[in-house]
Amino acid sequence: MSTNIESHLDETRLFPPSQGFSENARIGSRAAYDALYRKSIESPEEFWSAEAEELQWSRKWDQVLDWSKAPFAKWFVGGKTNISANCLDRHLDGPRKDKTAIIWEGEPGDTRTLTYAELHEQVCLFSNALKNNGVTKGDRVIIYMPMVPEAAVAMLACARIGAVHSVVFGGFSADSIRDRIADSGATAVITADGGWRRGSIVPLKHNVDEALNGQGAEQVARVFVLRRTEQDVAMQEGRDVWWHDAVAGASSDCPAEELDAEDPLFILYTSGSTGKPKGILHTTAGYMVGTYVSTKYVFDIRDDDVYWCTADVGWITGHSYIVYGPLANGATVLMYEGAPNQGTKEADWGRFWEMVQRHKVTIFYTAPTAIRAFIKAGEHFPEKYDLSSLRLLGTVGEPINPEAWIWYHKTIGGERCPIVDTWWQTETGAIMITPVPGAIPTKPGSATLPFLGVDAAIVDETGEETGPNEGGKLVIRKPWPSMLRTLWGDDDRYVDTYWKEYQEKGYYLAGDGARRDEDGYFWIVGRLDDVLNVSGHRLGTAEVESALVSHDTVAESAVVGRPDEIKGQGVVAFVTLKSGIEPNEDLNKELRNHVGKVIGAIAKPDEIRFTAALPKTRSGKIMRRLLKEICAGGKISGDTTTLEDFSVITSLQGKEEG
Ligand code: PRX
Repeated sequence: MSTNIESHLDETRLFPPSQGFSENARIGSRAAYDALYRKSIESPEEFWSAEAEELQWSRKWDQVLDWSKAPFAKWFVGGKTNISANCLDRHLDGPRKDKTAIIWEGEPGDTRTLTYAELHEQVCLFSNALKNNGVTKGDRVIIYMPMVPEAAVAMLACARIGAVHSVVFGGFSADSIRDRIADSGATAVITADGGWRRGSIVPLKHNVDEALNGQGAEQVARVFVLRRTEQDVAMQEGRDVWWHDAVAGASSDCPAEELDAEDPLFILYTSGSTGKPKGILHTTAGYMVGTYVSTKYVFDIRDDDVYWCTADVGWITGHSYIVYGPLANGATVLMYEGAPNQGTKEADWGRFWEMVQRHKVTIFYTAPTAIRAFIKAGEHFPEKYDLSSLRLLGTVGEPINPEAWIWYHKTIGGERCPIVDTWWQTETGAIMITPVPGAIPTKPGSATLPFLGVDAAIVDETGEETGPNEGGKLVIRKPWPSMLRTLWGDDDRYVDTYWKEYQEKGYYLAGDGARRDEDGYFWIVGRLDDVLNVSGHRLGTAEVESALVSHDTVAESAVVGRPDEIKGQGVVAFVTLKSGIEPNEDLNKELRNHVGKVIGAIAKPDEIRFTAALPKTRSGKIMRRLLKEICAGGKISGDTTTLEDFSVITSLQGKEEG
């Protein structure tokens, strides 16, 4: 459960927001936060309903929360609304109509801006294109796109007509796309010819073609293809249609569908502790309110901000804090297509900072792994640029080690910008634990305090709250609007994974270990299950293992995480080969590539260790704990008496030393 970033820095200072920041903030003091927080927990329905009223509804809800069928929640029961209308149409009556909604920059340096009126028009056109091609309310649509404005347009268009999108990160393989198509029952795919990444083209359409060739994807009737990189792609007649052709004949008049508060909005797949990714289901109104409210308070967002979240829309961070939350707030969002270290022509670790300077970015939200990579690249990159437009920084995805925090604070934030370390998950939909920047003094490495309306706690095995600095499990004790509603097609797994452990108390189990310090600040340690956090991305060890054993030569495998200076965790795979197969360098490489092909490049093991046997208990269970300890280079600790054959460990360790 350790995130394994060794911290050499003993940083115990408290960093309060500057007086200037607090004075202008929505919540400007600890006392103001405390009062609002107390109110939000004592009367959550009042709190959420007051916030929800700031948005547009075609019919107001009758009931804020129906928890009678817990853990199946219904929020804003009876309400009718549309999140696309709240992100677009809501802004068209006033001065935001001509305000920039999206500033986009492609990796090769091409740029585009879209005002709210223009974005609205693009979304309406594409909504009609979807409808003209047979996509209707409730249909599932896979979006496999580069980071271009059309990715946001596609999401908002699906939301507008009530189709359920499922965005698949562009780094995932054809097999991964196919699994998601099959599980969601998607009937349409939206993709592009390619996307730019580190100076090369990611063959998106080609991957979709490969995905559609296999079992489970037969129901896909339409593939929309955006022209981006302009290389040749195969277009299958009757199935594939160019984006520009589909919108050419479409009308730009497309009123948003009136949706029920609980109509599904999207499915996003994420790794769990078994081999099969879970389809996290979010619904319309609760998710809308959660992302709207959190963006408003956590980023303290203003009309004159230029807000940049460096995530990809393929992850929940991109859904909630590039598209829905900021646009619902009428913000100006910067969207960037490529890699952080890729200039317009050659590799360049200054790319991000040059962009901050040129676009005058005021709020910057990224992952600790990126910060660590920037530290390694050197301060001379950011130092070349004027970063004085920045006023607020954020991190997400994994614990931030104090060294990285301090570097971010000094080198990027000029010691003037508060840092919001935001803890949340695909499942929670919105930020759950975070400093509210004008109110909460920060401690490097701590996500600090629960967000408004979030009843977070650390509990022991029996569900009792642990004492100060005692580790335990992170739970959420009350439902919240943007919570997942279920796992797509698998209510039982939803109940088992998140609610079974504290069934009697009705607590949501996050799957993370954490502690609260003497000031009540939360310190997240990391996953308690077999899920790794590689560069802020979730990866199930079982997924990598099943990819490995799908290779002809592999008999068995066990995958564990090991500390990695940049990525947080690296992936180590222990592999035993079928009899008669000899380990060698080529096979090692082939197996790594095989995992890349089955899942995607992010899952490629950093290291494959061939071994004659895996350490097992007498009942045949692989003792992963021992493998982890071997990888971390430490001594084997704890009980090994259940180990079947201790010589396995000795030989694995021998290899370590050799
Ligand atoms: O382990 C926690 C870690 O990321 C997990 C959620 O991953 P995912 O659903 O992919 O969403 C990532 C982006 C929201 C959590 O269970 N995590 C996320 N944010 C933090 C974090 N760990 C520590 N500190 C954080 N700020």
